Amino acid sequence: MRILYVVGTRPNFVKTAPVIGALRERHPEGRHVIVHTGQHYDRLMSEVFLEELGVPAPDYMLEVGSGSHAAQTARTMERLEPVLADERPDLVMVPGDVNSTLAAALTAVKMGIPVAHIESGLRSFDMTMPEEANRIVADRFAEWLFLHSPEAVTNLRHEGIADERMHMVGNTMIDSLVALESRFRAAGSAARLGVEPGTYVLVTLHRPALVDGPLLGETVAQLAALAQEMPVLFPVHPRTRKMMEGVEPGAPGLHLVDPLGYVDFLSLIAEARAVLTDSGGIQEETTYLGIPCFTLRDNTERPVTLTSGTNTLLGLDPGAIARIPGLLGERTGPPPPPPPLWDGQAAQRIADAILA
Ligand code: UD1
Repeated sequence: MRILYVVGTRPNFVKTAPVIGALRERHPEGRHVIVHTGQHYDRLMSEVFLEELGVPAPDYMLEVGSGSHAAQTARTMERLEPVLADERPDLVMVPGDVNSTLAAALTAVKMGIPVAHIESGLRSFDMTMPEEANRIVADRFAEWLFLHSPEAVTNLRHEGIADERMHMVGNTMIDSLVALESRFRAAGSAARLGVEPGTYVLVTLHRPALVDGPLLGETVAQLAALAQEMPVLFPVHPRTRKMMEGVEPGAPGLHLVDPLGYVDFLSLIAEARAVLTDSGGIQEETTYLGIPCFTLRDNTERPVTLTSGTNTLLGLDPGAIARIPGLLGERTGPPPPPPPLWDGQAAQRIADAILA
């Protein structure tokens, strides 16, 4: 069997690495081809993750880079098509909801190649999010849908997708976390960055709805105010860094740093007092690690992190950041256990399904 994996962005590497590992190990006689679209290309957004996750060097680098949605998607399709024509894989595997995912699913289906979608069935019901269209298209075209939470089943059934295509396998992002747990527990990244473990709020913000307009300045002002009460550690995504030009964030206790590698970042989550984010994956990692998470969005495509996890939706409202110390004070008792099948074995279940 020939399987071709298409990855392009930081979270794609985390979600796909364990699947590549499991299928290579369980099906060594097969051909396993890794295509990196190049949607993320900075060393700290790409190579560092592949190295830490133990992903072999990609067989193809499409180097599509940044651009408008149409340009990035079209470039990926144009450059992937000849690769699929040469390789003729039996299956194209795509993760998550980024533009690379949409482009790869569309290219493969037009060439009559079956598609498998990792992290299928998530919906925010917010079509202003670029990822929502990407998820819907990938799920519509995928023959194999790999799910990690019960809401995904409901969402897919509502869209008329047959149960036979769905496989509840669990969360491959948590597989990656579990695989590196001993390394990140020993990393001590907070102390190295000059903040005391257990005291700080870790921040990540990169969604266009928040960072591409006036809300970014208000958010940074709120973070500066929060930093007077507890240290704030903010590794800044390149998109956000670009938009922050002109925003003057100098404030005691507010630490802005470059994006970090995967092990360092997990170490920072594990040692945080709380996390403030607009990321999807971080809502899941905090739920698994039992760290309070505050999501600066109006919705989440991952409601399981609200009902069975540590996540609180603050709304798309920078003013809500001021509520964090009070909300933390209200939390009592131990965090809930992780959702079912978030156990480090999801990729093995994907391999079971495909190899059967
Ligand atoms: C993309 C995904 C988003 C995902 C995020 C994870 C889409 C539509 N968005 O958002 O779903 O949550 O990745 O990080 O696919 N840039 C660099 N270096 C890089 C990559 C990006 O400087 O290595 C800068 C460029 O200025 C670029 C901007 O970041 O224009 C945005 O990058 P892009 O990949 O278009 O979207 P993300 O915001 O990273």
